[in-house]
Amino acid sequence: MPVKNIDSLEYQDWYDGLDANPLIRWYQRNIKFKFLMPIFKYLKKDSTILDIGCARGEFLQRLYKLGYRNLSGMDIANALRPEIADKICFFEESITSPSFLDIERPKFDILVIQGVLHHLPYGELSNCVKNIAGITKTEKDSSCAGGGGTVCV
Ligand SMILES: C[S@@+](CC[C@H](N)C(=O)[O-])C[C@H]1O[C@@H](n2cnc3c(N)ncnc32)[C@H](O)[C@@H]1O
Repeated sequence: MPVKNIDSLEYQDWYDGLDANPLIRWYQRNIKFKFLMPIFKYLKKDSTILDIGCARGEFLQRLYKLGYRNLSGMDIANALRPEIADKICFFEESITSPSFLDIERPKFDILVIQGVLHHLPYGELSNCVKNIAGITKTEKDSSCAGGGGTVCV
């Protein structure tokens, strides 16, 4: 059954409830983000990283603690924790917007999109992919060996 687009923020209370659950917080801290970490050892500390659907910014906070400094987040609403909010560049936007690429945007070495795609309506996935491709650095521009890329979990 198709899942409704959470662009509507219809599920915000549900996510707030999850975040308050100590078991979920333990899972996020100890398992969920940890298995992505090996990817980052191939990046330079000044690589530009965008977390799409960054929610409260936990993943960005973790990268900041590891020494990454060119961090950005994007979400349809700003729910960033104060500890990370002033250390990153935040875009309050939808990655599915059809007019997303109409304005000039920075491009990133690496884009992370975790736990987001399965919430988007099928019909909006192609916009999402097109928009992500439009803000990913090419091999020529990227500071990473082999060019920029997207990590989708
Ligand atoms: C399940 S949460 C995942 C949060 C975080 N990435 C993580 O892994 O813990 C999904 C997030 O995607 C955001 N989101 C939903 N639709 C979006 C869209 N069209 N563009 C950008 N962010 C979106 C939601 O606001 C929410 O913060």
